[in-house]
Amino acid sequence: TGRCVVAVDGPSGSGKSTVSRRLAAGIGARYLDTGAMYRAITWAVLRSGVDLTDAESVAKVAGEVDLRIGTDPQGYGVTADGVNVDAEIRGPEVTGAVSAVAAVPAVRALLVARQRQMIANAGRIVVEGRDIGSVVAPDADLKVYLTASEAARARRRSAEDAVDVAATAADLARRDKLDSTRKVNPLQQAPDAVELDTTELGIDEVVAELRELLTERG
Ligand code: C5P
Repeated sequence: TGRCVVAVDGPSGSGKSTVSRRLAAGIGARYLDTGAMYRAITWAVLRSGVDLTDAESVAKVAGEVDLRIGTDPQGYGVTADGVNVDAEIRGPEVTGAVSAVAAVPAVRALLVARQRQMIANAGRIVVEGRDIGSVVAPDADLKVYLTASEAARARRRSAEDAVDVAATAADLARRDKLDSTRKVNPLQQAPDAVELDTTELGIDEVVAELRELLTERG
């Protein structure tokens, strides 16, 4: 089976991760979680103790981290400087700081280049993030933009993270605002992306719809 790149973008809690992993497993493709890459860099920045608002220092730390991420949709690990950070990158400290780190242009340039290389090496891959269809893989075979109501997104994330819904809703709103208003590569729907509102849809329905779209496109 030949090359096939699927770009899945959208805000937090839109169902990107679950849908992307299942789609990848279903079509025998690799899977890349670009959010995990920004989170792992953020973990290293926090550990280094540099000021988050000092873009130059943040970029320097980012450039020095030995970041490794797997692409197996059934389970991928993330390490930074040899430390497994799978659990810590999902914690409140990293979640609270990641949008600031992801707004630094040099950090994005670095990770976008890494992501393009991984996509080229994989050939068949589902890539999820915020700027995949617009910046990282503008020539993707299928671009999807997943949305869901704010209430649904907060409900899903709070169930996943075991944090109360109100706090999760506030955190999502804060990150959405930062992610969609930053100057470099903000969260945005590519003009040729298929928009899918997942508020009323189950995961299997979304995955089935995407598989149908892929079949249509040959
Ligand atoms: O998808 P996830 O919630 O793990 O992403 C964490 C953060 O990483 C986002 O809130 C965003 O700030 C950043 N991100 C990004 N570009 C991507 C993926 C994630 O800026 N392609």
